[in-house]
Amino acid sequence: MERITVNASTDYEVMIGRGLLERAGDLISMAIAGKNKAEKPGEVVSAGNPNTGKTAVIVSDDNVFPLYGEKLKKSLQDAGFNTLEFVFPHGEKSKSLKTYGELLEFMCEKRVRRSDMIVALGGGVVGDLSGFAAATYQRGIDFIQVPTSLLAAVDSSVGGKTAVDLTNGKNQVGAFYQPRLVVCDTDTLSTLPKEEYACGCGEIIKYAILESDEFFEELLKTPVSDQYEKVISTCVTIKKHYVENDEFDTGLRMKLNLGHTFGHAVETCSGYTILHGQAVGMGIAAVTKAASEMGLCSKGTLTRILELLDKYELLREITYGIDEMYENIRVDKKNSGSITNLIVPVAIGNCKIMKIPTEKLKGWLEEGGVGPENA
Ligand code: NAD
Ligand code: GLY
Repeated sequence: MERITVNASTDYEVMIGRGLLERAGDLISMAIAGKNKAEKPGEVVSAGNPNTGKTAVIVSDDNVFPLYGEKLKKSLQDAGFNTLEFVFPHGEKSKSLKTYGELLEFMCEKRVRRSDMIVALGGGVVGDLSGFAAATYQRGIDFIQVPTSLLAAVDSSVGGKTAVDLTNGKNQVGAFYQPRLVVCDTDTLSTLPKEEYACGCGEIIKYAILESDEFFEELLKTPVSDQYEKVISTCVTIKKHYVENDEFDTGLRMKLNLGHTFGHAVETCSGYTILHGQAVGMGIAAVTKAASEMGLCSKGTLTRILELLDKYELLREITYGIDEMYENIRVDKKNSGSITNLIVPVAIGNCKIMKIPTEKLKGWLEEGGVGPENA
């Protein structure tokens, strides 16, 4: 098992390895142990199992819960927790104010207290929604991430960004709220559909382009699925660096949005039928093509990036119109007013943040080969 500590506003461990789901109850129990000790005079501490009377609300979707819900539930109950389950339909459409409201109402109806916790079992949709509910329910309750998609393992479960979508934009309501623990059981990835595997690889390729030519070459040589533990720990270690240095996303962390400026617009244009990781891959290809056309990176860098995206079945042209794409970029919360922070690859392992007047992005989209004429 790999263990990585993230030192953010709350310090927590990310545990990565096989068979961790069966041990999740004990691992969670240990992680929150400090909180079970009486900290104020007069506070009551239970004599027996410190988790007795503490409820873990397992939040999951209707794909993941039938696969792994019972195993997690048993593990939590064996560690002394009471459990509740909230399972919603899978997919980005559920990352909504509606599901968020239903989860809060469910917890209130079941009398979930501030000392209880949410355990998010699933992909990024489950993690983002559960994290936002944990951040806001009774002004904040403990939150544990148990990522089961590759994308959630390498990215969304770490770093404390939580959110739901609004009708006109992704992640428009949310909070920075760090988990108390991340438990990533790599065995769960064996049931991941092929296209979801590709999505996770989109984010993994992003990390390699941002930070490491060596990691990039490794991804070309050895499939991610043959080295899950190593790849996930590499990505989490890279993400840790960004989160620790810029937890609230005002500078350095923006680099993690490589491919996302165009990618988010693709997702919105498609009505979320194009998956996040696929859209990020398309966004990386387009921004690198534009950078190459403008002489900001070499043709060789573009060729290598396209080759790796292709290897992981991520290479697709953006076929939405430039105006439609631009409109969605314009309303993206990441663009502060009239300036967009665009992350531009200069070489593999070296990207820069460019402050672009937002209206100039139409030119970037054009240079990036975006548009129906390229279909
Ligand atoms: P997801 O949660 O929808 O999961 C993808 C699909 O895979 C779903 O249908 C899910 O049911 C299924 N699935 C998950 N694990 C499975 C398993 N082990 N076996 C079988 N099926 C499984 O989506 P995702 O790709 O995990 O995450 C995308 C979301 O994450 C987006 O909403 C995106 O905005 C968000 N995100 C957040 C951050 C962050 O920092 N918070 C970072 C990146 C992405
Ligand atoms: N996924 C981008 C971030 O966590 O900042």
